[in-house]
Amino acid sequence: MIDYLLVKHVHVTCVVLSGAGFALRGAWMLTDSPLIRHRLTRIVPHIVDTLLLGSAITLVVLAGWYPTTHAWVAAKIVALVVYIVLGTVALKRGRTRAVRIVALAGALATFAYIVSVAIARNPLPFG
Ligand code: HEM
Repeated sequence: MIDYLLVKHVHVTCVVLSGAGFALRGAWMLTDSPLIRHRLTRIVPHIVDTLLLGSAITLVVLAGWYPTTHAWVAAKIVALVVYIVLGTVALKRGRTRAVRIVALAGALATFAYIVSVAIARNPLPFG
């Protein structure tokens, strides 16, 4: 049997690693650091984010909290897509520095929203 608390620990550990890693890459973007193109910078986030999503899906299945019946789970999925899109604009696709900075702020705010939804199990921001 898969232990719920163990998977939750994996999920929360990946949340911390993913958030800290994204903030670090954001800082490297702001300072034009070449580290943002380092091989590890490109590989590690994929591993962490795959584990983050895998543990999320495992938790949802184990707990039986499906997005169709639990609005906060649906809110997390939608916000995750927003976070990924804004994150890509901030670190890669944004054509000007201003666009990248606005996208970075939006991505960090979205990340904070997702954490608040997780803790309160409520789709309302910081509810
Ligand atoms: C960037 C994306 C995500 C972040 C920042 C995040 C954050 C968190 C945090 C901080 C917790 C622990 C809450 C607590 O202390 O009780 C948590 C739990 C959880 N997350 Fe996520 N999560 C993310 C993605 C997802 C996604 C996409 C799903 C669903 C498909 C999901 C499903 C869950 C579930 C079911 C729990 C367990 C709630 C509980 O046992 O109380 N997470 N998440």
